[in-house]
Amino acid sequence: MFSNLKPQPADKILALMAAYREDPRDQKIDLGVGVYKNAEGVTPVMRAIKTAEKQLWEVETTKSYTGLAGDPAFADAMIKLVLDGVVARDRIAAVATPGGTGAVRQAFECIRMANPEARVFVSNPTWPNHLSILKFLNMPTVEYRYFDSETGGVDFDGLMEDLNQLKAGDVVLLHGCCHNPTGANLTLDQFQAVVDKMNEVGAVPMIDIAYQGFGDGLDEDAAATRLVAKSCPEVLIAASCSKNFGIYRERTGLLMAISENASLTPVTQGNLAFLNRQNFSFPPDHGARLVTMILTDDALRAEWQTELEEVRLSMLGLREQLASELRRLSNSDRFDFVARHRGMFSRLGLSPELVEKVRAEHGIYMVGDSRINIAGLNAQTVPVLADAIIKVGA
Ligand code: LMR
Repeated sequence: MFSNLKPQPADKILALMAAYREDPRDQKIDLGVGVYKNAEGVTPVMRAIKTAEKQLWEVETTKSYTGLAGDPAFADAMIKLVLDGVVARDRIAAVATPGGTGAVRQAFECIRMANPEARVFVSNPTWPNHLSILKFLNMPTVEYRYFDSETGGVDFDGLMEDLNQLKAGDVVLLHGCCHNPTGANLTLDQFQAVVDKMNEVGAVPMIDIAYQGFGDGLDEDAAATRLVAKSCPEVLIAASCSKNFGIYRERTGLLMAISENASLTPVTQGNLAFLNRQNFSFPPDHGARLVTMILTDDALRAEWQTELEEVRLSMLGLREQLASELRRLSNSDRFDFVARHRGMFSRLGLSPELVEKVRAEHGIYMVGDSRINIAGLNAQTVPVLADAIIKVGA
């Protein structure tokens, strides 16, 4: 049996993590995988998570199964965090999932079950695992233009033109905030135009929101998702707690499916729970419980928001520093987009050859499409990166 298996293509982001680990150079810099690191290069357990874990240890009396959809209190708390009441709760079906990726996977499967003909429109570029999962599920996929490498911003005209191909029942995958991998985001007015187009043809939005709180703030980063949710009859939303709660390995996410009216919600809910049962049965609970405790306790929530804000501002500071260092060294404003981007990532616009040169000659690891994780930098390494970018001839 196993002799029939073919080698699978390596995930580019995870392969880069391995290559970095094996590099013996002391001065190497890891700007690869999307994991937050502080100035010391550490991914800390957030203070509110530590406190919640202590409290949970005291009060938890069982590790028995939760429901197939996870703890309903987790769904309620996350729905409030992401949507803040813009959609009636009884229109929203929701299940806890293993991380944001689990929510994305379940969303795709739900689309396929509901409408096998549906094509999923994805931004070019998008998070590579979106494409990989869609391919694995054999789902028809269409790319829409997204990034303008000349300006480092969104190619909005290209995007709107490509969405002219939409047919009723197609799905448009949008990043709620902090676009991965580019860092370039639609304005709210542009989101509105996309919504109008989807509604015109009867296409369904799916939002992946994995970095709420990493861009402009918790509410600001959810504004586009809320706009879409209140403007469209049906919406899928995959939310991750990995980054904004720093609980990557706990695998904590939520899939929400908004139906046109509340009478459809029980069947939608049943289908999402069914999908959980088929794929992994009960979702992980530890991270979800910590998130619920934090979101529903004033003191824990305040502590979490304070630290999340520190994280966000530190990344913004690094963006400003990198943009100004590149302005100085290149004697031009052509890298100023780095300061305009939001979230963990920026796509610098370097060719794959230059990305490889930066790695080989300077020990700096970025994804092959020149995506950098801003949080992999600190005040000392920003000038090193800027220098390397200019030295390789970018
Ligand atoms: C990333 O894009 O680096 C993160 O979302 C981590 C991952 O799983 O790829």
